[in-house]
Amino acid sequence: MLILLLGVVSTVSCAAVASNVVQIPLEIDNSMYTVNSLSLGLPAQSVSKIVLDTGSSDLVITHSVYDITKSTSAINSNLTFSMQYGSSDLFYVFAVNETLVGDDFKLSKFPLGYPKDTLIRDIVGYSGILGLGFRAFEALFRTSNNGKGVGYANFPQALKEQGITKSSLFSLNGQSDNPYVIFGGVDTNAYEGPLVKVPIIFIIGTNFVLDYYLYLDVTVNQVTFNNKEDKTVIANQPLAYWMDTGADSWLTTPAIYKNLYNCFQNTKLENEITWILIKELKKISITFNIAGFDVTIPLTDLIDTKNGDYASLKIDYATIGTETYQSIIPNAVYKYMYTVFDLDNGFVYLGKSSGSQRQVIKSVTNAELPVPTTTLKEYTNSYTTLYKDSLETMVASRPTSCKKKH
Ligand SMILES: *[C@@H]1O[C@H](CO)[C@@H](O)[C@H](O)[C@H]1NC(C)=O
Ligand SMILES: *[C@@H]1O[C@H](CO)[C@@H](O)[C@H](O)[C@H]1NC(C)=O
Repeated sequence: MLILLLGVVSTVSCAAVASNVVQIPLEIDNSMYTVNSLSLGLPAQSVSKIVLDTGSSDLVITHSVYDITKSTSAINSNLTFSMQYGSSDLFYVFAVNETLVGDDFKLSKFPLGYPKDTLIRDIVGYSGILGLGFRAFEALFRTSNNGKGVGYANFPQALKEQGITKSSLFSLNGQSDNPYVIFGGVDTNAYEGPLVKVPIIFIIGTNFVLDYYLYLDVTVNQVTFNNKEDKTVIANQPLAYWMDTGADSWLTTPAIYKNLYNCFQNTKLENEITWILIKELKKISITFNIAGFDVTIPLTDLIDTKNGDYASLKIDYATIGTETYQSIIPNAVYKYMYTVFDLDNGFVYLGKSSGSQRQVIKSVTNAELPVPTTTLKEYTNSYTTLYKDSLETMVASRPTSCKKKH
């Protein structure tokens, strides 16, 4: 990859920066990126512990932080819609339009889902979800035409429609130290080299291809298991992966899961869970090749529970084509890369985190990013035919003799 010094480029438009972008500081709360600086309604009720979620498309706020009866600006449509997140139960919400205020923006009549059941005080442990995904995936004001690209302007689009930003693109700097998201702009100092352009892809089923965007899916061309000595390819078939910032687990396929566990040397089966020696885990990382862009996470980021010297992992599998249409990249990756989400144009852009704390923000006004971008050779090798477990190259289990040595 070409490394460019972006410092010179960035300073040019420094003056134009402050306006037309909305920057929201984030916190990492149990691996979720949360927003803690919003307020709703009149008089303002401050809300915090709201998950920034590219895996859903609506704002939902629970009764623990917001009371509609205390707000004079709330407009309750009295229309009911159903919602469900990951491990939560299905629940019903009223679609309410409300004033939403942040440090440097104010949106009027912004739609939010307000649970009908006052006992719903959290959603999987959080006070709300700020969905940033595609319109076709919206639950509020849903009509049968949603799939055709209607729906309402959700958060990134409302910022643009109400004249606060000039584009609905948003950029996530998910670094562990001071993470933040910028709407309508890019922090040119937060990553190294040109941004790698990655196409968002359509859902592919057993006998159909969706003709509109629903999930924020990209192609992962290869996955490798890395220890100190070598790298083992555990997935070599292009596969659709959901870029869902609200997913703390890696959802993969049965074949890749088998390959992964075959690579470990020190495992034990207990209570139907495979446990891996923590000492071994600490030396291992996983690399996802996303349209040519490599992002690597230490496996310790995926530890679920511990059991003495052993740990289990937040990794699961589902069969493509029957149980699911896509795998899911664990949200740990966002700590190690800068991610620009350009949903309106169907691209994400990825850059290696620079770790810099000095921001140089450029606003974005049209489809062309105001910063250097590139495509890698895998760009043209997108996911176009349904993934098959049977086509995956299988990795042999490590020999027992090998296990004994360790
Ligand atoms: C929703 O119901 C409430 C209470 O019945 C009513 O005051 C309000 O006008 C209704 N909202 C709309 C948009 O019809
Ligand atoms: C509430 O928001 C929805 C979606 O943006 C919009 O269609 C509707 O007209 C709004 N209702 C009112 C009363 O402003």
